Amino acid sequence: MNIDIKSINGEDCACDALIFLFSEDRPEELKKLPRSIVPLIRQVFSKEFSGKQNEVFLMKAPDSVKPERLLLVGLGKRDQVSAEKIRQAGGKAATYLRSMGMKKAVLSTDSLAALKISPAAFIEGALLGLYSYRGYKKDGDKKSLEKITLLAKSTRELTDGLKRVEAVSAGVCFARDLVNTPANDMTPTHLAKAASSLRTKRLSVRILNKHDVKKIGMGAFLAVAKGSREEPRFIVLDYKGAKGAPVVLIGKSITFDSGGISLKPSEGMEKMKYDMAGGAAVLGVMKAVAALQLPIHLVGMLPATENLPGGTATKPGDVVKSLSGKTVEIINTDAEGRLVIADAIAYAKRLKPRAIIDIATLTGACLIAFGNETIAMMGNDRKLMDALKKSGELTYERVWEMPLFEEYKEYLKSDIADIKNIGGRNGGLVTAAYFLYEFAGDTPWVHLDIAGTAWAEKEKPYVPKGASGIGTRLICDIIKELQ
Ligand code: BES
Ligand code: MN
Ligand code: ZN
Repeated sequence: MNIDIKSINGEDCACDALIFLFSEDRPEELKKLPRSIVPLIRQVFSKEFSGKQNEVFLMKAPDSVKPERLLLVGLGKRDQVSAEKIRQAGGKAATYLRSMGMKKAVLSTDSLAALKISPAAFIEGALLGLYSYRGYKKDGDKKSLEKITLLAKSTRELTDGLKRVEAVSAGVCFARDLVNTPANDMTPTHLAKAASSLRTKRLSVRILNKHDVKKIGMGAFLAVAKGSREEPRFIVLDYKGAKGAPVVLIGKSITFDSGGISLKPSEGMEKMKYDMAGGAAVLGVMKAVAALQLPIHLVGMLPATENLPGGTATKPGDVVKSLSGKTVEIINTDAEGRLVIADAIAYAKRLKPRAIIDIATLTGACLIAFGNETIAMMGNDRKLMDALKKSGELTYERVWEMPLFEEYKEYLKSDIADIKNIGGRNGGLVTAAYFLYEFAGDTPWVHLDIAGTAWAEKEKPYVPKGASGIGTRLICDIIKELQ
């Protein structure tokens, strides 16, 4: 979708629909409207439209003005309007106009100016909401909203804001595409290709194959990869936008999680193609950061493999040696995410990073605790966690902290190895993170469990059904603090 900025009056702008944003309680916004349309809007305001959040109403415009139609969009109660509500309005308006076959829309930004919210939030919602996965159907839906024109003065602040939401939204949509792609196509090799497509002068990409990781000693990662015919890939992206120690992002990249020998029930197993959503989010971030040329040294790591049963698969009870040197008793082969991330953490630590953030669809327990709304966060660095909490509120990719009390260490005690890979049914969200904590040691580290949020069962105003791309916007935001 195209975006431009014009400093003219709405009445003089030829388009399919001119968009006005209205809050619910008091149509303050009416005062500023062009006289030619005020009576019309007053009329519908008393009956057909009330300004409730995400309410839309499309009407014919009077012949005296250039736009063909007017679209009224509700923002809810005026004192509760936030950037998030505007993002939702953008998603709702854009997808509604697309469904009505509209191509060119124009947004009146007067009410946003009064609320001191950047129109970039509306555009962000539109860009994210208009995403659709092309899929494998012969005849896809061809309707598309081609352009939104903002009626505003083109200031530096506005153009910078737009550049940022365009780059970040492109990162989110890139991640969504990877996650939505079925696992027969989204193999570790293919994921590595997608990562390689992000190469720029500042962003290098290194792909380690099975032989390489064996030589390095990634026994935990290999234990997961062993059961599959598909070659694993350990993908490393290095973006050098600044000197000094890097921040490392680790994204769980299980391209299909059957559970391995500890096989999952078949119902819903098809969803396990989204078990690489953490890795996809990391690629989304790398793409956006490179496009914006942000001044940070950022490394992305994606341990990518399938988790399958078979004659060569790891068996419950097997003990393997991880890259850190710790031995791990694998009680349950379905607790594979923590194994591949543990080796990635050990590899990341060799870079003496300023911080490690891992993002993973790690536990079903996360889904049970938080439903589809919240990212679970655990870590050993107060400052980083507080900053993530703030970024979560700003981006509305909200995180909630869970504890890593030392008593959980007991849960992971093995009789014959340094640690075992599950801590039992109770406290599953926390013990999974505690396992990683044992590998992070004293390196500043935060773990984000996105098992509940990476896949949208129901569409939301700017999140279509399917892969949500969660994590990309959150981490892009926290990078401001880490620069
Ligand atoms: N990928 C799953 C977690 C998951 C479940 C993500 C549902 C998204 C939706 C992970 O690898 C897994 O299987 N975890 C097990 C751990 C258990 C065996 C300790 C789980 O949560 O059941
Ligand atoms: Mn699993
Ligand atoms: Zn998994």
